This record gives sequence, C-alpha cells and structure tokens, in this order.
Amino acid sequence: MDKQYLLAPGPTPVPPEILQRMAEPVIHHRAPVYEKILAEVREGLKYLFQTKNEVLIFASSGTGAMEGTVTNTLSAGDKAIVVEGGKFGERWTDICKAYGVKAQVMPVEWGQAIDPALIAKALQTDPSFKAVFTQATETSTGVLYPIKEIAEIVSRYPGTIMVVDGISHLGAAELPMDGWKLDVVVAGSQKAIMLPPGLSFAALSDKAWEFAGKSTLPKYYFDFKKELKNVVKNQSAYTPAVSMVLGLAESLRGIRKEGLQTIFARHAKLAKATREAMLAIGLKLYAPRAYSDAVTAVLAPPGVDAEKVVKVLRDKHNLTIAGGQDQAKGKIFRIAHMGYVDKFDILMAVAAVEMTLKELGYAVEIGKGVRAAMEVLI
Ligand SMILES: Cc1ncc(COP(=O)(O)O)c(C=O)c1O
Repeated sequence: MDKQYLLAPGPTPVPPEILQRMAEPVIHHRAPVYEKILAEVREGLKYLFQTKNEVLIFASSGTGAMEGTVTNTLSAGDKAIVVEGGKFGERWTDICKAYGVKAQVMPVEWGQAIDPALIAKALQTDPSFKAVFTQATETSTGVLYPIKEIAEIVSRYPGTIMVVDGISHLGAAELPMDGWKLDVVVAGSQKAIMLPPGLSFAALSDKAWEFAGKSTLPKYYFDFKKELKNVVKNQSAYTPAVSMVLGLAESLRGIRKEGLQTIFARHAKLAKATREAMLAIGLKLYAPRAYSDAVTAVLAPPGVDAEKVVKVLRDKHNLTIAGGQDQAKGKIFRIAHMGYVDKFDILMAVAAVEMTLKELGYAVEIGKGVRAAMEVLI
C-alpha cells in the first residue's frame, strides 16, 4: 500500500483523534447532548478567534462564509475596497459583483503585500466605502498582509468595516480579532483548524453587527442574524454538520491544550525551516519579504516547470503540495505547513523536493536543503 503525504494549503492532514471523534455514531442536534457539545465549541471558537463575540458556524466551504459576509453587512450599490493580490482577493471582488456591491479593486503585485498607506489614502479621499475586504494570508501567493496596520486605519472610519478572510491563516498565526479591531473574520475547517473541508465560520464585531442590522442584500441560508439567535441557545437554524461539529470540538480541545502562542511559534519555525531549505538549494521565494507562516510559495528554478514538480511529487513520491494558479501557474509550487504538521513532515517534504528537482534535471546538492531545515528545527 502506498503511504500518502498531504502538505497542500488545504485540505490539510487531520489528526487521528479528530477522525475517531467524527466516526462516533451520529447524534441528534435538537438534543441536550448536542447542545452541551456546541456550548463547548462556542467557547473554543472564541478562544481561537480571540473575540468576546459569537462565532457562527456554517455547513459550507470557506467561500460560503465569504459570501454571507457580503450579503449580511452590505446593501446593493454600496462601495467597498478590495485588496486583490491573488486568487482569493479576486474572490471578494467576484462576490461583490454578484450582489451589486461596487468593488474598488486595489491591485497588488502577486508575491507582494499591500501597502497600508494606500488604504489610508483611498479612505481619506472617499470615506463612503462601507468595507475593506482582504485576506490575512493570500494562499495563492504565500503572502502575509499587514492586517493590524490596515485595521488600525479602518477603525478610524465609523462607516467602514474591516473584513478579513482568515481562511488560510487563523490558527496558524496571530489574528486577534478584538485586539486588532477586526470587524469580520472568516475561516474554513480544512486549514489550520485541522478538520476535513465542510465547515465555514464567521465572527462579527459589534460594529459589524450594526451593519448587519441595516444590510438589505438577499440572504437565506447564510442569514447571520438568524444564526446568531440560534447559536446563543447552543443551536443552529438548520441541520448542522453534526459529525464535523464533533470533530471541531476535538480540534478546539487540542488547540486550547497546545495554546495559541505555542501553535504560532511552531508554525513560524516550520515556515522558517521551509524557507531556509529552499534558499539553501538555490531556489527563490515568491514572497521574499512578506511571507506567510501558513504556506511557502517557491519559484521553480529556471527551465523547470513547477507543475512538473508538483506532478512528480504526487505521482512518484505520493506527496501532495500545490502548484501556482493563473499567472503563477508553472512558475511556483507551494508547500503548506498549516495545522497538524510537525518538523519531520517538513524534513520529508524538503527531501522529496530535492529528489524531485534532481530527477527533473536541476543540479541540486542532495541533503543541503534538509540540513538547512534541520538547523532551524533542532
Ligand atoms: C485565503 C483563502 N480564501 C478563500 C478560500 C476559499 O475557501 P473554500 O475553497 O473553502 O471555499 C481559500 C481556499 O483555499 C483560501 O485559501
């Protein structure tokens, strides 16, 4: 039997204790036994999001919570700023367009981070923007955006909310919702939360809830106000993904046990080891400055197709990472170190990349990257 390794930026590996919990017999959601679990989950989510407010749970991929954020906080004709430096920035723009929200795109060169001064200038020129939409980590480029700085600027505008897609970030690196004055944080189960795909999350600040009170865009399943009324009673408006919620309870228990700061330090170390390893074998980072601790994007060496690197890793070595999307296709490959990942996963991934590059004709000194990673991890 072939052993498979998963180091893609979602889905990510799921710990056995979570899989086991999800395999328990299905319980009924309108019963005290479920409500007790949801009460525990609510506290765990508040810890993870670092917020006093409720975190809503939906049975959807992350995009569902993104869409719900637009439809619950805005109205047709509203204007919003969208930071667009990759595939997922584009998604905010697409959702805005689908609902008649006027998105003013703030283009960012792929591989670079947004300069917060640009947001400050845009809001100064026109304070009527209702929202600023951004990612924390833009997964398609491996870039970390300066969320704290942007949020500080947005917080000075009472008519504007700061919306953060933390899907590839929350649980891997700092994103303290209340501490940084973030108005909406969206997350997905299949990243650092260490669950299979299928749940999305949205947390709103008091300011964002005020926006929700005025929003007139159409909504039904993703009706945040309706969901809030239910979640405070340890319930949900519709049938929840019961088994996933059981897994979530287990995941949040693990997260609280390890502690957020320890988790962030682990991710930072794994990310550094990955970067050092890639540099040691002569490769360049796609995001050389503003790199994320959740995913590392690496430029394939000249003459080597990054798609081939991904394919050989998958087909020959049973290791799944991700390639580039759109303009980065064929140029980069992305190694995730998000969630249930430890030092030996990184050493294995680096070793596999070295072997693959050698097989593809790149002159790599075998073991050099592994050694550099070990120096960081030891
Ligand atoms: C930053 C970011 N935003 C949004 C999404 C979309 O999430 P989903 O595929 O769960 O809908 C992803 C998925 O990879 C992501 O990484």
